[in-house]
Amino acid sequence: MTELRPARILAIETSCDETACAIVENGRALLSSVVASQMEIHARYGGVYPEVASRQHVLSVVPVVEQALAQAHLTLKDIDAIAVTQGPGLAGSLVVGMNMAKGLALGAGLPLVGVNHLEGHLYSAWVYEAGDNAPPEPQFPLMALLVSGGHTELNLMTEHLTYQRLGATLDDAAGEAFDKVARLLELGYPGGPAIQSAAEEGDAGRFNFPRAWLDGTYDFSFSGLKTAVLYETRELKKRSGHLPAHDLAASFQKAVVDVLFKKTMDAAREFGAKEILVAGGVSANRALRQAFRAQGEFPVHIPPLSLCTDNAAMIASAGYYRFALGHVSDLDIDVLPTWNLSQAA
Ligand code: KG4
Ligand code: ZN
Repeated sequence: MTELRPARILAIETSCDETACAIVENGRALLSSVVASQMEIHARYGGVYPEVASRQHVLSVVPVVEQALAQAHLTLKDIDAIAVTQGPGLAGSLVVGMNMAKGLALGAGLPLVGVNHLEGHLYSAWVYEAGDNAPPEPQFPLMALLVSGGHTELNLMTEHLTYQRLGATLDDAAGEAFDKVARLLELGYPGGPAIQSAAEEGDAGRFNFPRAWLDGTYDFSFSGLKTAVLYETRELKKRSGHLPAHDLAASFQKAVVDVLFKKTMDAAREFGAKEILVAGGVSANRALRQAFRAQGEFPVHIPPLSLCTDNAAMIASAGYYRFALGHVSDLDIDVLPTWNLSQAA
């Protein structure tokens, strides 16, 4: 691959309930990253309240950008391009970051680069803290498992910005299943971390929940598993009035991890991948990370915990490769992308 030109990218991410800005150099070295979380506000509603989210973004976006520049000891003069999440996400949230990015690009005379949020998640695996030793760069062909609150898909990346989608969830995303099951088990919001900590004190072998293997495909399905947990929960409540939440959480988590792990490994073998990448909010899950770390067949890239859930560093990284490879956007781009990952480049 030809040498890519050096560039510093400032990125803004407001697709859901985090207002985030980050500055990344040459796609990998993180100079600053600020994430203003609205988690506490939405916890009251048991999920993200879109209208409240977009109003919070309006309040936070300017201070968050100022803080990211200040933390990196930079001004807009030191930035080469502005990247921004173009979607998918909540339209009312996306539009706040998009307008801020357009304003910065126009005001500072910088190119604008729209980034698909899912593409951003994948690129979180390229990022490391500036000043640290650079970890090895993911090598293509790369089998990329993306597991977030809104998406679950397997993509084969044959080179930068090039994705072959092998499969995706037919119903719930993995993170969504964690969130819904956490609600059933009365473990609170957000569900992923709550299930994880409950599971660590539970017996994963106590309940044998179904695994939707969907043989012959690389698709996923988690709604049957969620329903099985629902029925088991109802039955247990009726019989004993008590919920063994730890064992239920551990058995549920094991069922999700088993499927994500095996399907990714099978796909990596079938498509001759050199390495594996796991990203998205659910990649923060300790059991999932352990499953991939414990196998010795493929080198695996999983972002540090701070970059698993939504952040702008990942948008800056993907934005860098888009910018350096000549995919700059018009200033009138819309917030809802007209391409999905496999059409992203
Ligand atoms: O990537 P993300 O921050 O937002 C989306 O783009 O959707 O992912 C959020 C999802 C939520 O469903 C959350 O419950 C899940 O990631 N999550 C986890 C963990 N941390 C966050 N799921 C399992 N285990 C975790 N430790
Ligand atoms: Zn996300």
